[in-house]
Amino acid sequence: MDRDILSPIVLPEEKVIESSLRPRSFDEFIGQEKVKTQLEIFLKASLKRGEALDHILLYGPPGLGKTTLAYIIASELKVPIQVTSGPAIEKAGELIAILTSLEDCSVLFIDEIHRLGKPIEEILYPAMEEREIDIVIGKGTGARAIRIKLPKFTLIGATTRFGLVSSPLRDRFGIIERLDYYTPEEILKIVERSARILNIRYETDALKEISCRSRGTPRIANRLIKRVRDYAEVKGDGFISHRLAIEALNLFEIEEHGLDREDLRILETIAYKFSGGPVGIETLSSAIGESSETIEEIYEPYLIKMGYIEKTPRGRIITENGLNVLKGKRI
Ligand SMILES: Nc1ncnc2c1ncn2[C@@H]1O[C@H](COP(=O)(O)OP(=O)(O)O)[C@@H](O)[C@H]1O
Ligand SMILES: [Mg+2]
Repeated sequence: MDRDILSPIVLPEEKVIESSLRPRSFDEFIGQEKVKTQLEIFLKASLKRGEALDHILLYGPPGLGKTTLAYIIASELKVPIQVTSGPAIEKAGELIAILTSLEDCSVLFIDEIHRLGKPIEEILYPAMEEREIDIVIGKGTGARAIRIKLPKFTLIGATTRFGLVSSPLRDRFGIIERLDYYTPEEILKIVERSARILNIRYETDALKEISCRSRGTPRIANRLIKRVRDYAEVKGDGFISHRLAIEALNLFEIEEHGLDREDLRILETIAYKFSGGPVGIETLSSAIGESSETIEEIYEPYLIKMGYIEKTPRGRIITENGLNVLKGKRI
């Protein structure tokens, strides 16, 4: 099957359309009610005091709305947002250049913040805490440190791997919010909105079908509705009927729980090769030929969320529910 269709990671060709579907305000942002309520309160309070908003760390699996929220926060604060990412900042000088050129009270968004190099991360500590940085000028005995005052700013960090964010960095965020998978009902609202924006005609049951098979992930839901629309255009006049939706999803090999081949392979491997587990992540990784990072970041959180596998101190085990999914499905 098309390997990418259930990937929660944005595909290069999707970037433009993804930004057209991106909610621009808290009102348009569906679900994650607790996160939204808290952020709105902090935002209002900071606006009232006329101070920069506290630094915010957003974490959770890919495709759930971290980047979207960062843009919404900046837009609600009516301040500019500067966007970069952990792997993009290779040298200390690059971060210093970004920090010193920020506008007062603006937002600096660092995606994949767990991937910042240690020396670069260390520049962030005083920048976040005291809004200043020390830079060393010259070399050897002539070297001296000068302190530079930074403008007020709000750092928004996003990560899919909370456990990989070092504790000194974590401690410097005043606000830490976790995004969780969406319910099928929330995903339904999201795809209804997307269908409206994209002028897609549909039967509600068709969208329900898509919602249940999107791994609780808005990015996947938006991708599925577009692919199903393509199918409906080829097979008919573009109207997505319930029947066409099911046909298309089956053709894409997305089963009724929203699991793809890779998910099923993980479940199968734990169930049959390791007699239900426990199996350590490295052993599992070499058994299925997928990196342990990918398993931990992308596959496992959803399988755990759905109660198909559990993480124990001795490794992963498959649950009764997980075994039920596999019944009658030897791949
Ligand atoms: N709560 C939401 N409501 C509506 N659409 C959403 C929501 N969260 C995410 N999306 C959609 O999913 C896509 C991926 O979201 P994004 O913020 O890029 O995820 P992340 O940064 O967590 O990987 C966005 O383009 C947006 O259209
Ligand atoms: Mg993102």
